[in-house]
Amino acid sequence: MHTPDAISVIRAKRDGQALTPEQIDWVIDAYTRGEVADEQMSALAMAILLNGMDRAEIARWTAAMIASGERMDFSCLPLPTTDKHSTGGVGDKITLPLAPLVAACGAVVPQLSGRGLGHTGGTLDKLEAVPGWRARLSGEEMMDVLRGPGAVICAAGEGLAPADRKLYALRDVTGTVESIPLIASSIMSKKIAEGTGALVLDVKVGSGAFMKTYEDARELAATMVGLGTDHGVRTVALLTDMSTPLGLTAGNGLEVRESVEVLAGGGPADVVELTLALAREMLDAAGLTDADPARALADGSAMDRWRRMIAAQGGDPDAPLPVARETHTVTAPADGVLTTLDAYAVGLAAWRLGAGRARKEDPVQAAAGIEMHAKPGDRVSAGAPLLTLHTDTPERFPAALAALEGDAIQVGQESPGPRRTVLDRLA
Ligand code: URA
Repeated sequence: MHTPDAISVIRAKRDGQALTPEQIDWVIDAYTRGEVADEQMSALAMAILLNGMDRAEIARWTAAMIASGERMDFSCLPLPTTDKHSTGGVGDKITLPLAPLVAACGAVVPQLSGRGLGHTGGTLDKLEAVPGWRARLSGEEMMDVLRGPGAVICAAGEGLAPADRKLYALRDVTGTVESIPLIASSIMSKKIAEGTGALVLDVKVGSGAFMKTYEDARELAATMVGLGTDHGVRTVALLTDMSTPLGLTAGNGLEVRESVEVLAGGGPADVVELTLALAREMLDAAGLTDADPARALADGSAMDRWRRMIAAQGGDPDAPLPVARETHTVTAPADGVLTTLDAYAVGLAAWRLGAGRARKEDPVQAAAGIEMHAKPGDRVSAGAPLLTLHTDTPERFPAALAALEGDAIQVGQESPGPRRTVLDRLA
């Protein structure tokens, strides 16, 4: 059998054929080594986005991306490992309270996280708002944190799924992010290579998410659950609402503050609800069915883990969080009930204020972002504060305000009815 070449692989997918296992193994390996050029891989990614991949192709593509790098192994730890991955949203700070909470309930949480790109925030950017905290740890430092506080949130090393690292950066600039096979294989290759025993996926649905419709989110969730299960990782997915931001803050330091409120037993109801729902799933998947995460939040044991986890990574849990130099208040346009507070618009506005980055090398402002004073369903009065915009660079206010124009904020007379945070579960 002859070795595949880039043009025949691209042509096959362009013409709607399924790629063979040999073609997939070759193209991922050759791309990682630099033999397949970026322009060839972009053409292939576009052909995949347009023509899709079947289940066998997705499984092989994922396995090839895992095989492009190293696999971590936590089998030497005495407790079960469990992790969570969110497909990304606005105000999604859940990892911050969740990781120490699950550790406080008796599991080990090796959470390799990313940075924000575009309108969705990144967990590492959020935690870097804590003075002194370090995202980069050596393998040995990571194991020390797991043996001590039991939860670590850090950057993935260069050696983990390098094919995905390269391909994701390429997709980001070629309009090929929004493909279910490519998203599922990207996320699951990293999570399987990370070596967790159990995984809970938080698949977001709505304007602030990659998946705008319930059907697409369900298909993505089912694809990822299948991939995890096939690789021996106990995998569960929750489909959760991302039509409006989670909680009352979007932006790095502001989200850390809200997470600490949750760990102190307070915080917005939707953040607490989702943190507890995901904690229960993570603990169940790890076989710890008797654990009681609500008690660990109430009795301070989760907060204790958080403080130890932050300190173990060089952070000072008692240091004041950065405060923005300037604020601007957006008021309610009329008396009534807030019916819409659009997640994408709020994410875009926070990003424009400096909370996110346009290119991956850009810095982010730790204090920039948006505080919300009402959620959909709340009564508001004309002229009362609805949002507070925070930034160190006030020349950004007009662009942020422009993102909030149009239908992003709507006040009506009829209540939109109760909102559900968790929409569905797949196992
Ligand atoms: N997150 C990832 O890691 N990969 C994707 O393709 C999309 C979101």
